[in-house]
Amino acid sequence: MTSGQKIRVEHEDRIAIIHLNRPESLNALDHDLMQELISAFESLDQEKKVGAFVVTGGEKVFSAGADLKEMASKGPIEMMEENHLALWDRIRRVSKPIIAAVSGYCLGGGLELAMTCDIIVAGETARFGQPEINVGVMPGAGGTQRLTRTVGKYRAMEMVLTGNHVDAREAYRMGLVNRVVPPQLVLDEAKKLAKIISDKSPVATRLAKQAVLKSFSTSLEDGLDFERRNFYLLFATDDAKEGIRAFLEKRQASFRGK
Ligand code: CAA
Repeated sequence: MTSGQKIRVEHEDRIAIIHLNRPESLNALDHDLMQELISAFESLDQEKKVGAFVVTGGEKVFSAGADLKEMASKGPIEMMEENHLALWDRIRRVSKPIIAAVSGYCLGGGLELAMTCDIIVAGETARFGQPEINVGVMPGAGGTQRLTRTVGKYRAMEMVLTGNHVDAREAYRMGLVNRVVPPQLVLDEAKKLAKIISDKSPVATRLAKQAVLKSFSTSLEDGLDFERRNFYLLFATDDAKEGIRAFLEKRQASFRGK
């Protein structure tokens, strides 16, 4: 296990589990925490023995969002010059799958962080919301864009304009989370998914993730072209040959990431 000040990283088989670790502030995402989190994502992304990550806040809270204490005295020029939110763009470039294991509050930047992940497992206690409007601001780390693309205009608009939370079951009905489990099982469920993913071909996983994310930023036609190129590219890999051969020989494939 390695620890920064505000996150904790554990390894289990081919997965890395990143714990947000500021319980006294309900895991509010201050600049140092985000810096540590993104450095961890980027260095784990380079580690060959890691196939997928889980990010979690613990059983009681995922994150209550950006740190309002840190932002309280800031003006727009300072905010723009510091541009802390640019850090968030780097999460988009992480090539390995990230699974959010969410229990308790998942609000504001917390929900935006969960939405930059690739899969969200929610505990029954999870509460999702974009409450920034209640403090006179608005989402600034993707909430108006990712939420809208995920749940549609009307539900996103209601969450962003009222600041109301939705519970885990409602989030599931909206398509905002993959599954809902008892809170004590959230991390295990997320780890199970991460383990399944980390046993696949790393190169196929990377190109498949890229292609799904591409659909957020492109037309259907360009997205289909992009998908097809990634698909053809995989036929250059030993993993594709091994995977297909293993299927035909009725045995487990052994992928090497080449
Ligand atoms: N930033 C900084 N500190 C926070 C925080 C936040 N977002 N959320 C909670 N805390 C702190 C509280 O100030 C409190 O600290 P003290 O003990 O020093 O007073 C501690 O965490 C516990 O919080 P509460 O006493 O408020 O706990 P609660 O159980 O009564 O309420 C809550 C929980 C409903 C989540 C409430 O804390 C809350 O509404 N938090 C703010 C949520 C919010 O507005 N998030 C959006 C932030 S802006 C943003 O995220 C912008 C963006 O898009 C990037």
